[in-house]
This record gives sequence, structure tokens and C-alpha cells, in this order.
Amino acid sequence: MSGPSHESALKRNFQTRLVEARARTDELFSYLHADGLYDRPIPERHRNIFYLGHFEAFDYNLVYRSACEREPFDESFARMFAFGMDPVDGKLPTDQPADWPTVDEVRKYNRKVRESVDACLQESPLLDRDRPTLRNGYIFNIAIEHRLMHAETFAYLLHQMPLEKKDRVKTCPVTEGPSVTPKMVEIPAGSVTLGLEASPDEAFGWDNERNLRRVEVPRFALSAHNVTNGKFLEFVRSRAYDEQRYWSEEGWEWKTSQGISHPGFWVRKGDEWYCRLLFDEVPLPTDWPVYVTYAEADAYVRWAGKDLPTEAQLHRAAYGTPEGGERAYPWGDEPPEVARGNFDFGRWDPTPVGYYPSGQSAFGIHDLLGNGWEWTRTVFEPFDGFDPFPPYPGYSANFFDGKHYVVKGGTARTAACMLRRSFRNWFQPHYPYVYVAFRLVEN
Ligand code: AVJ
Ligand code: FE
Repeated sequence: MSGPSHESALKRNFQTRLVEARARTDELFSYLHADGLYDRPIPERHRNIFYLGHFEAFDYNLVYRSACEREPFDESFARMFAFGMDPVDGKLPTDQPADWPTVDEVRKYNRKVRESVDACLQESPLLDRDRPTLRNGYIFNIAIEHRLMHAETFAYLLHQMPLEKKDRVKTCPVTEGPSVTPKMVEIPAGSVTLGLEASPDEAFGWDNERNLRRVEVPRFALSAHNVTNGKFLEFVRSRAYDEQRYWSEEGWEWKTSQGISHPGFWVRKGDEWYCRLLFDEVPLPTDWPVYVTYAEADAYVRWAGKDLPTEAQLHRAAYGTPEGGERAYPWGDEPPEVARGNFDFGRWDPTPVGYYPSGQSAFGIHDLLGNGWEWTRTVFEPFDGFDPFPPYPGYSANFFDGKHYVVKGGTARTAACMLRRSFRNWFQPHYPYVYVAFRLVEN
């Protein structure tokens, strides 16, 4: 398709998605009380106020200034709120609340940026072959997905805020699931496609999704369900969790130096275990997936005499078929919808494992999309032909340091657009705040 009607349809679609994405992050801020706006819920990350300005400053820098080449305004805000990733050099940020502008100033800035970015969308050519960052709305996809990623990462931050500093949103967590017997499923050898096959003209993807990589995966067996809180509790209760022989060297160093004695979302009260939810605390739901660091998942699989999957193995289990084909989603080629899994903001909390049978893969593996990212033992690295995306060259490349691991899948707070097969996420191995589950492999 081409021509003016196609272009205006594209613009309408981007405008709708922008508005929806903004509503997601606005909603999170609406739950945070004013007395928590300058707090820093996670020591490695910025204060909450940074995120209030960051989503707009990002759009200003990449859409308004870089792609659309418009006249600058409020440059000090654009710099102050430009980037905020987790530093891995071991140093913690030391800025003070007084170093940041007032909430009113930031909100005023945000209104101005939203209007300016909307004007850019309406006034810029989206079909011009000579403008690759605008072509097919590339930069608007970047802005929308960036904000939606933060709708998830800001949920992690809000999760760490004390309950008194946020609204107690009623979330009705699911406490009754199907009764599931853990089992290993045999996956025959086959080839998988990582990354994106389609050209940038046909499909949007981040720099780390290109180029396409085909991998031959030998046979293996994979657990049909994620490891649950209940199974992990056996590991902790038996004290095997505290035995050095199950941990990698760096894992043990992290555990002992930080005084870690259980997963980060668990709370111990005498002999009772509780789970910290975003807006509540409940007795530990034993049939929910356990969210752990890579180091903890790695120790568990060693204790269980198993291994963690690779990125290619998870692809094979999720998208492969016994006949040798590959699907767009675990359940087939139909787009994500509510019955297929715990994703796309449908809930705030995890569900029991196996709660969405219609989302299982051709091999009968459950919950591969949603209900928690999943650890792989694949270090986050570029595919051959990787080309950093020019207006934001550090998006992926800053993390090709051998210290981050690929996670696949998604959580209750992962937007549907990022459930595409080629999407790759990554985290540090010792970061206890993220919603990452795992499953077992037998090679
Ligand atoms: C891709 C989710 C690891 O939030 O740490 C947001 C995404 N990059 N702003 C993160 C991101 C820049 C990133 N993750
Ligand atoms: Fe960001």
C-alpha cells in the first residue's frame, strides 16, 4: 500500500497507540503518593521523579529533535531525563531530591512535549524512502515500545515502594489453579529462527533483533511448567539454598555479600512465608512461578541435576512444531488475546502455572508467553550483521558486556506488541526486582 490514505491511516494508528501507551505510564504514577515521588525504591536506579520526565524526554530527544529535526526547547530537561539504566560498575547513584525539578515543572514539560510529538507525527512524511527513521513510523514504534517497556520497569519500581506510599489497588489475585504435576517433555531436534526475517520495511524490530539467525537445536527435554514458589520453597527449606556447592562463584559472592537467604519477593515471618505483590502482601502462593535472579535459578537447576535452557531451546519449545515448522506464537499464528496467557496488562499479579491451557505450545509447554520472563543461559550478544540503531546506539550495545542474560517470554505487564517471536529482553544476573521465572532442561 502507498499514498495519502495509507499514510493517514498509519498516523491515526500511531496516535492511538501513543495515547494508549501514555495512559499506561500515567496510570502507574496516579497510584504513587506525592510523598513518594522523590524516593528511590531501587538503590541502583533513579528516583521516581526521573521516570516522570524520562518518557517524554526520550520522545523529545529521539522523535522531536533527532527524527523530525525541530527547534530545541527546555534542553536542560532533555539532558537531565535522557537516560537511566542500571549501572553495573557497582557504584550507586548519589543525587539528592533537591537536584531535581518540581513535579509541576516536570508535568508542564511533559504536556509541552506530548503536544510537540503529536504535531511531529501529524506533520512528518512517513512514506519517504530517504527518511529511514521516519519511514513507516519507525521512530514512533521506538517511542511507543520504549514507553511500554517502562510501563513494566516502572511497575518493578512501584513494587518496591512501601504499601503506605501508594494506593492499594484491588487486584483479586488468582489463588486456585489447575493441579499440575511437574513433568519433562521431550523436544526433538529441529532448527529455529532467532531474530527477524522481514525487512525493516515490512516489520518493526529493535536493533538486537537483526539479523536473522538460524540455529540447529539438538534434542532436549524441558519442564512443561515454570518452577513454582512451592518447589523453590523445598530448595530453601532443605537448606540446600545455603550450600555453596550449588552456586556459581559469582552467584555465591552475590548471595553472601548481600546476605541473601530467599527470593526477593518473598517475606519471612517466623515459619510463615508471604509474597510481596505490587499492591498487597499474601501468604506465599505455592503454585505461582517463582521470580528469582539468574544466580538463584542457576543454583536451583544444579541442585535438581538439570540445566537452564538456552535462547534457542526456548524458541524451539515455544515456536517449533513436531512437523518441523515454526509458528508466530506458541499457540499458532493468531495474535495474542486474553485467553492465551497472563500478559498485555490484563492482571497485576502472576497466575498459577498452567492457568492458560489454550496458550500452550505445539509440544505442550505452558506459559511460554506471559506470567514471567524466563531465564536463559544465553549471554546477551548481537547477531551477525547487528547495526546499532543510530539515534540510540546504546539501547542494546551498552549491554553486550558479557554480564547480561537473555530472557524470553513476558509478564502480566508486558504489552502485546512485545510478545513477537523475535523480541529479546535481558537482565543482570543479580537483580532481584524483576519478574523472571525459569524452567528446567535435560540435555
Ligand atoms: C530492555 C527492559 C532491559 O528498562 O532496562 C528502557 C529497556 N532501555 N529504556 C530496561 C529500556 C532504555 C531496558 N530493558
Ligand atoms: Fe528508558
